[in-house]
Amino acid sequence: MPWGVGDKIMLHPAVKLKKSLIQGSGLIAVKKIPKGTILWRLGNSDRIYSPQEYKKFSKKYRKLLDKYSYIDDFDRFVYCTDNAKYWNHSCNPNSSSLQAVDMEIAIKDIQPREEITFDYALVMGDDETMRCCCGAKNCRKVIKKIDEDSMLCKRLRKQVVNVVKYLGKVEQPLLTAEDICPCGSGKKYKKCHGK
Ligand SMILES: C[S@@+](CC[C@H](N)C(=O)[O-])C[C@H]1O[C@@H](n2cnc3c(N)ncnc32)[C@H](O)[C@@H]1O
Ligand SMILES: [Zn+2]
Ligand SMILES: [Zn+2]
Repeated sequence: MPWGVGDKIMLHPAVKLKKSLIQGSGLIAVKKIPKGTILWRLGNSDRIYSPQEYKKFSKKYRKLLDKYSYIDDFDRFVYCTDNAKYWNHSCNPNSSSLQAVDMEIAIKDIQPREEITFDYALVMGDDETMRCCCGAKNCRKVIKKIDEDSMLCKRLRKQVVNVVKYLGKVEQPLLTAEDICPCGSGKKYKKCHGK
């Protein structure tokens, strides 16, 4: 069966919260996860705030959101209430976000005990910077938001395009037949890559 067990799981069951190899806590694979697997999807319990709402929050809650939320394509703060908020950054990531569908996909085959990472540059606020200690050979050391026209952004987007073809070929515990296909076609998964 090309699709999974239900639409209630938001974080892949083989992704667990553990001590990070990069900083603090992080998400670690406990089984091999092939490229093209959806690792996370936005759920009903996750919270989304406009910039106006963010400004009205207490300093304490804003600080929490600064650390644990990401900025989506509509400049909203997305705060995951589950372990997904512990997703660390790497300059050589093994996952990336799918535009317009609020999902994260494995862009490489992920081995057991490997940390699941993505490139924060795609989801940072305009004035945000982060000192990086990912340890990758190509580490940029200081991470900030990137321009959609930059080479880096094009490279990161291409990594996703290259693995979309595997969507229907791997187990997808987070997808149901009735879901909109993560590829962005607008069709149902069962009528698109999940056929
Ligand atoms: C969304 S949280 C990730 C979970 C965090 N590791 C923890 O234990 O709470 C984002 C924060 O993790 C840290 N972090 C994530 N990736 C990092 C990296 N590559 N280098 C240094 N710090 C990182 C930074 O402090 C960042 O503000
Ligand atoms: Zn780095
Ligand atoms: Zn599709």
